[in-house]
Amino acid sequence: MSDCIVRIRPDLPVGTISPRIYGHFAEHIGRCCYDGLRPKEADIPQQNGFRTDVSEALHSLPTPLLRWPGGCYADHYHWKDGIGPPRDRPRRLGMSCGETVEEDNSLGTDEFLWFCAHIGAEPYLAGNVGSGTPQELCDWMEYCNTSLDTLWTRTRYQNGVEKPWHVRLWGVGNENWGCGGNYDAADYAREYRRYATMLRHVDQKAELVVCGWDQEQWNIDLANTLRNHSDLIDHFSIHRYWGGGEEDGFGEEGYYQLLKQAEETEAYIQRTHQVITDILGKERKIGIALDEWGAWHKQASLGYDPAQRRGSYEQVNTLRDAIAAAIAFEGFHRQCNLLSMANIAQIVNVLQSPLQTHRSAMWRTPTYHVFHLYGRHQGAEAVTAEVENSGSLPTGYAALSSTASQTSNKSLTVSLINRSYSEPVTLKLIGCESASFANAYILTASNPDAANSEHEPDLVHPVKLNMEGSPSAGLRFTLPPHSIASVWLNH
Ligand code: AHR
Repeated sequence: MSDCIVRIRPDLPVGTISPRIYGHFAEHIGRCCYDGLRPKEADIPQQNGFRTDVSEALHSLPTPLLRWPGGCYADHYHWKDGIGPPRDRPRRLGMSCGETVEEDNSLGTDEFLWFCAHIGAEPYLAGNVGSGTPQELCDWMEYCNTSLDTLWTRTRYQNGVEKPWHVRLWGVGNENWGCGGNYDAADYAREYRRYATMLRHVDQKAELVVCGWDQEQWNIDLANTLRNHSDLIDHFSIHRYWGGGEEDGFGEEGYYQLLKQAEETEAYIQRTHQVITDILGKERKIGIALDEWGAWHKQASLGYDPAQRRGSYEQVNTLRDAIAAAIAFEGFHRQCNLLSMANIAQIVNVLQSPLQTHRSAMWRTPTYHVFHLYGRHQGAEAVTAEVENSGSLPTGYAALSSTASQTSNKSLTVSLINRSYSEPVTLKLIGCESASFANAYILTASNPDAANSEHEPDLVHPVKLNMEGSPSAGLRFTLPPHSIASVWLNH
């Protein structure tokens, strides 16, 4: 069979890849916030109560956006519990997704917003609709965003924060069709209208996120009820988890099964956008916010097993998961005009986390390396990548796929996935003539269920990829099975 050709078409731009598409999510669940972000042991190096190793790893990703405090936790969370001197904060039940734990509220608003500034992330706060009130959420927005001399500004001062945090992104509830109150769509829409109207009065610059679902009828009923108030919506939240099967030892069938689910995420984004624009029209630009996504394997849903450090939303994070994330990013880039943000679940320890910890150990998962390799796409313009002779997979999808982007100074980044479980692909990359230098990195392992761990933290990590040829004459290289590569082309 002839070699695969990947032709980059900078003359066919798609749109700008918002850095918000590379967002993250931190929930008070399992060992994400407590232990993962904030160490329990005093001898673990930390700054302002946050692990130094985790902060540094996130800083070098980079991490442009961070959603907090839930998830399902958001609709139980009362933000006033988490301000002021930590010793005076009430201890409450921390509740999310069936988990009920002691919550000392030591991670509160000012700590979280400090951490976002520290790692360079834009904060995204998820508000409480299920057990809260519009006034409570308005007060939170006032505390974070106003500089006028009010009770909440003075309280913020007293807590040591002089300047407003200027938080732009506000979720009005989370999964309100389920854990966020089991609403029906029209009831939630009316609640949303009330909350959003009041929030707009507090800060007109705030961007508000309404809660959608993968049940299309919910989205239809929600949009119909808000038909005359689309001005209150900036983003439409949906979630997508893949998996349900084994975290590792999945074999060829399980491998392709997960990749197929990742591939289908793009159509889900498009379909949701179509449903809401059919009802609300195109005049108001409402972005799709995929504010939870990733792999959720069955082992994560078990009770926590301290011996294996799994369960309670923890799972082994393999190369297969990383390939699934890379596939999702290809779709996100293609849909960058519809998709306003995406937040992988979750930032550390929980579900498809880029980082995992155990006591003083921290390691990067294969998914971390995808975020790192794809980092150059953030803020760049997606351009068309055409693939010929790619070969096909048992699922019917092409074996070789690619995404490309160009910065304003004409640097190109081309990322490629060989999805085949067992076959290498040799390819020629053309259409990058404007560049003079190219470096390439590859992420792979002998088996797609390879994973990093405390004892083998670098088993799966990117290495330099050798290429023949030149950007002007075309670059030729071979991608081994189940691999991800990123080619960085500069002048
Ligand atoms: O990410 C874990 C949970 O998954 C979140 O709390 C919830 O929103 C979703 O169902």
